[in-house]
Amino acid sequence: MTSPQARLPGLPATEEEARQRAEQLRRAIEYHNYRYYVLDDPEISDAAYDALMNELRALEEAFPELRTPDSPTQRVGAPPLERFEKVHHEVPMLSLGNAFHADDVRRWYRRVCRLAGREQLDLVVEPKIDGLAVTLLYERGRLVRGATRGDGLTGEDVTPNVRTVRHIPLVIPVPAPERRRADGMPPFPPVDGPPPRLEVRGEVYMRKSDFEALNRRQAERGEKTFANPRNAAAGSLRQLDSRITARRPLSFFAYGVGIVEGVELTTHWELLGYLGALGFPINPDSRLFASLDEALAYADAWLERRHELDYEADGLVFKVNEIALYDRLGITGREPRWAIAYKAPPTEAVTVLEDIVVNVGRTGQVVPTAVLRPVEVGGVVVSHATLHNADYIQERDLRIGDHVIVKRAGDVIPQVVRPLPELRTGAERPWQMPNRCPSCGEPLVRPEGEVAYYCTNVACPAQLVRRVEYFASRNAMDIEGFGSKQAARFVELGLLKDPADLYFLTKEQILAVEGFAEKSAENLLRAIEASKGRGLARLLTALGIRYVGSTVAELLARHYASLDEIMAASQEELEAIEGIGPRTAASLVEWFSRPQNREMVEKLRRAGVRFERLGPAGEEAREPLAGLTFVLTGTLPTMTREEAKAFIQAHGGRVTSSVSRKTDYVVAGEKAGSKLRRAQELGVPVISEEELRRMVTRGR
Ligand code: IVH
Repeated sequence: MTSPQARLPGLPATEEEARQRAEQLRRAIEYHNYRYYVLDDPEISDAAYDALMNELRALEEAFPELRTPDSPTQRVGAPPLERFEKVHHEVPMLSLGNAFHADDVRRWYRRVCRLAGREQLDLVVEPKIDGLAVTLLYERGRLVRGATRGDGLTGEDVTPNVRTVRHIPLVIPVPAPERRRADGMPPFPPVDGPPPRLEVRGEVYMRKSDFEALNRRQAERGEKTFANPRNAAAGSLRQLDSRITARRPLSFFAYGVGIVEGVELTTHWELLGYLGALGFPINPDSRLFASLDEALAYADAWLERRHELDYEADGLVFKVNEIALYDRLGITGREPRWAIAYKAPPTEAVTVLEDIVVNVGRTGQVVPTAVLRPVEVGGVVVSHATLHNADYIQERDLRIGDHVIVKRAGDVIPQVVRPLPELRTGAERPWQMPNRCPSCGEPLVRPEGEVAYYCTNVACPAQLVRRVEYFASRNAMDIEGFGSKQAARFVELGLLKDPADLYFLTKEQILAVEGFAEKSAENLLRAIEASKGRGLARLLTALGIRYVGSTVAELLARHYASLDEIMAASQEELEAIEGIGPRTAASLVEWFSRPQNREMVEKLRRAGVRFERLGPAGEEAREPLAGLTFVLTGTLPTMTREEAKAFIQAHGGRVTSSVSRKTDYVVAGEKAGSKLRRAQELGVPVISEEELRRMVTRGR
């Protein structure tokens, strides 16, 4: 065999040099990993990070004995296991008692004060993250084992899986010259080296934004979607094939310890600071209080705003700060007396699944929807919920007539979690996806490898209604006074065979439609006429091409001057645009290649719809918000979120959902929450709606 040095010039000559270089690279990579994932504040570009990784990979390939399990190159997962080994928890992993009202917390506090023989006790309040508990064992600073909670005494060994979670350090302390922390967080003490043994406990969870993106990806690939971020996190971590875990966006917060050797920790607050100092992510909303009233006031205010956070939390944990008291306070069952969970008002309710109906979407996808006996969930009356697809119903064995658990989390669409089979009477009926489209009667098809059923009839009236409705909607051609009701009526009467027919409607035809009179018909004609000049971006959105929503449409309209240029663009050319992936490019090419679609485009041209972008070429340079990234938070005085987003995009800006160093401005309104705080922490400028408007007018 040729020596590695001969094959790979530039590699160290001796094994000792290689070892030193690998060590250096690992430290650098772990540091930048920490900057990126834990601090959310990268210092180097992705390309520079990749270069470090590539060099380390090359070294490990040339000197395989350097490839240790705690190398950052191993975060991609390991070959699949047959099964998980059991892990006995030397220090049991306990659960928490619940308090549903402030009064329950007061009672708990009086009791612990009495048992501790104190008038008053310091309390730490922390978010209760909805994920799954894990315990991580570090020996001389190296992550040697990760396990799930299991029943609290015995869990499962998921070491290869936890190694793929980027927020979990493989080596502690994480090499970082400084550690930033948010206001209100415990101080981070200096640490010299790793403790001999330390078991760190915390929650593996999935951010809401990551969860939504994952589900979108899964659905697009026709793979299983998850009911909520918690299931997604649990399902992702407990994979026998950790290479799958590696591809799932998991996050981690540390909140406690099991085995501790070689460190003296006297308070929980100190413990959190120590974990932060070692490089673990600790929740920035954790606080220390000297009185119960202050702690409760903080908790109530926090619970109000918890939906704005990018993770699901079902409450807060109140913990006695003084660790020495824990033994004295004792444990009831599996629940220690030194802590209690203060739960948010339930966002789950039980009701009856009265029916399952199917709706045909704009793309022909047939989606089952639950018709529920109306029930209040977290302050809102819910009567419908999406059931996603036939598999979702089958997997949960949902039957018509079942009592079901309905859940609503934040602004997420209501979900049917599961049935309560113990309440069945025998009259419940299983449900099956119909064989034929409920609208046009054509057979439904399920494409190979997908979970969704489609009606593939191009002339299906239900699809046409949805397409027309979408075409006229606010983010698209914005035809005032033309909504879903009108779309359905016009299609039913045969007045529209495609959205372009809108431009050929006569006053007489409109007057023949129920609900229209002289005045309203004229208004509609005027609105239709006005929509011809909306410009390229909105027109593109209106066409309803798969993967081409308003953001992608805006992007395309910045690169091309007219629809004709886009129609003529090749897949490669489209893909070369930053922000347009192969899937979107293919979808565009495919759409424009269909004769039926081209016909509609020609019809739009004949009608006089403007195909050009608004403004001259190089418009983006003139656009006042071009190149700027905004995050919206709170309630703005005059615009809704959607309107503010459209406003920013229409003037060339970008809107993202979370605040990072890359954010240029946070537009904050009333009741702005964590995003505002994040902006302040990172020093991102915060502006009002009025200031946003001024940026646009001044820029002109
Ligand atoms: S402390 C005795 N702190 O809640 C202390 N738990 O119901 C046990 N959890 O299994 C845990 N956030 O999965 C603690 N800040 C937090 C937490 C938290 C979420 C979960 C954890 C635990 C369950 C207990």
